[in-house]
Amino acid sequence: MLILGIETSCDETSVAIIDGEGSVRANLVSSQIERHRPFGGVVPEIASREHLEQMLPLTVEALGKAGVGLDQIDLIAVTAGPGLIGSLLVGVAAAQGIAYGRGIGLAGINHLEGHIFSPYLRKTGSATAVPSRFLCLVVSGGHSSIYDVRGRPEDRQIVMKNRTRDDAAGEVFDKVAKFAGLQYPGGPEVDKYASSGSVDARYDFPIPRFKDDSADFSFSGLKANAIRAARSEDLNRPGAVRDGRMADFCASFQSAICDQLIDRLGRIWDEVKGEDEGPAEIAVAGGVAANSELRKRVTSFCEERNLIVRLPDREFCTDNGAMIAFAALQSIEAGGATDPRRLAARSRMAVGR
Ligand code: KG4
Ligand code: ZN
Repeated sequence: MLILGIETSCDETSVAIIDGEGSVRANLVSSQIERHRPFGGVVPEIASREHLEQMLPLTVEALGKAGVGLDQIDLIAVTAGPGLIGSLLVGVAAAQGIAYGRGIGLAGINHLEGHIFSPYLRKTGSATAVPSRFLCLVVSGGHSSIYDVRGRPEDRQIVMKNRTRDDAAGEVFDKVAKFAGLQYPGGPEVDKYASSGSVDARYDFPIPRFKDDSADFSFSGLKANAIRAARSEDLNRPGAVRDGRMADFCASFQSAICDQLIDRLGRIWDEVKGEDEGPAEIAVAGGVAANSELRKRVTSFCEERNLIVRLPDREFCTDNGAMIAFAALQSIEAGGATDPRRLAARSRMAVGR
């Protein structure tokens, strides 16, 4: 069993090949970061044109890397949404063409489901067994939610336990970093500077609370506070890096994002922990799952509660085709493949079946 996975929902073109054990035979990612950097964010029109250029050469390269021919592929999996519509259409059209031409099945995958199962992929060898229940914190450039994933593949339910009421965590990393004079994408930059800084009491970045005591996320207050602080400290001037102000600011801001993520994780964990067959594993996924501080905090959170922690290899945190192929493998038993002609790309799409 070989699955070819295609991901083009945002600014990374990716093609992967995995086998029936979830072992990754090839996972190639062509990042467009350099093309979008001058604009400080993703330009949708540039993104779709780049996907168009990369799609077929990358597919040929992935097959070569895996040492297989297109005739050996049993199923095509492609991100059908959510994402930038022009970008999604490139991947979906390519996948439809290959599946129809070869007469094999096509599975349209929800990008978030791709992230949700990604912590179970391994760099080498078979994937880790996906348990019958786990909590997954998905934090990326476009999404921040905690999901309660339960059941076996054939009757699996993915329940969204919270969501963000405004910005996504990754989006806030990117926006705040921009005002601090750091390059796009800001998350990895903040992570890098924070590693040599320490949390400074001068910065007051409290955890937001809602009147109705909801466990939803909200990052817009932190974003505004952090941008104000970055401006008043002139962080975009060269001296800020030299005298360590940049490092302390990044450590404080990153710590505030983690404080909120861990606070909400704790509240949702408290809600489900007493249930019969409650989760014994906590997974983190999405681009922000690559963050060093978040990885440390979730690891201690799990150690304190005797839970298993599942952190994706950094290769599988940001968008990639392997996670899309792996999500298809999860849904095969639930009858995941559709008629290639019927699949439509959708910019908005809810998680769960
Ligand atoms: O999952 P992803 O590749 O794309 C979306 O589906 O959105 O996530 C990209 C996001 C960006 O906002 C980027 O700044 C953030 O992930 N990111 C990080 C780190 N690496 C990537 N944020 C914090 N720390 C990191 N090390
Ligand atoms: Zn993503």
